[in-house]
Amino acid sequence: AKDGYKHFMLKEIMEQPKVLRDCLVGRLQDDRVCLPELDGLPVPGSIRIIACGTSYNAGLWSQYYLEQFAEIPVIVEIASEFRYRKPILKADELIVVISQSGETADTLGALRLCKEKGYPVVGICNVLGSSVAREASACLYTQAGPEISVASTKAMLSQMVLLLLLALYYGQRKNADCSHAKKLRAGILNELKALPEILEGALPVMRDKAKKFAYQYAYAKSFFYLGRGTAYSLALEGALKLKELSYIHAEGYATGEIKHGPIALIDPDFPTFALAFDDDNFNKVCSGILEIKSRQGNVIALLQEGTELENNDLWYIPQTKLPEFLALPAMQLFSYEMADYLGKDVDQPRNLAKSVTVE
Ligand code: M6R
Repeated sequence: AKDGYKHFMLKEIMEQPKVLRDCLVGRLQDDRVCLPELDGLPVPGSIRIIACGTSYNAGLWSQYYLEQFAEIPVIVEIASEFRYRKPILKADELIVVISQSGETADTLGALRLCKEKGYPVVGICNVLGSSVAREASACLYTQAGPEISVASTKAMLSQMVLLLLLALYYGQRKNADCSHAKKLRAGILNELKALPEILEGALPVMRDKAKKFAYQYAYAKSFFYLGRGTAYSLALEGALKLKELSYIHAEGYATGEIKHGPIALIDPDFPTFALAFDDDNFNKVCSGILEIKSRQGNVIALLQEGTELENNDLWYIPQTKLPEFLALPAMQLFSYEMADYLGKDVDQPRNLAKSVTVE
């Protein structure tokens, strides 16, 4: 049931504070992360994450955190590319496959290939008893609940929580006694624990803002989504959501890449959705945005409270050290409102299926 919402997608977006809470149930003991499913596997020398679509974007996002907290090198791969190469895996590699449905043909194919080669494969899945969940050496279930809308929303958020926990978990196993590392992990855990309430408070305002910007930018035939650092993969996801739901052409780019070609596209009819988080990249991202504006490009800039940027269309989200968990729903709402305004079939976009069980 849609619980009074017009579409499943909207319901699933609005459920995300609960998803954040559910994902943490049983996973925290004081300042420690519990992933008992993985206790029997050795700490890997490197991690290879394999997935498709939105799940791939979640994997790409986690690279930053796995490298930061677990200090483990990470490669993130598109499943359909990985399985048809002749990939060279390292002896102490751990494979992590991410799939909401657990039935995506290419992801499952990649899992089987790695298992045949004798590698442990950890699955991050939402659907209980799905093929990936059954065939993986260990499965971490995301607690997102059934996702009906074709567009992945709450599933990605839940994958991000699990992946962040994974980074902290390996950090714990590797640096158990380092008090500095312990403090950093405890700090980010506190940020994570505070998120459900922050998101709950922010969602109604976000929806109004999403609606306003969607109407204002509904003229666009194309959109850029830009982000740097942890916002980069979110930019890819924002672009994916906009194209699959509203059929507006959208490209996600690393902010630092636009000057290497894409900026040639900018004119008054080619707007940009820029993510400018309050982190070490902020000033660089702002100068990227100014470059676009000086070429008459219109920009929606998503910022955190307490920061400033000269721009007409600012979208403020609350202050947190994990702004990705707020920016993601904001972009989901923007795509939702855009698609609804343009009269598209929000829950069943054309040409798409919820799980892609063919190659
Ligand atoms: O079930 P999976 O996570 O394996 O699905 C992967 C993609 O097909 C999926 O994320 C797709 O990109 C979404 N519909 C995008 O919203």
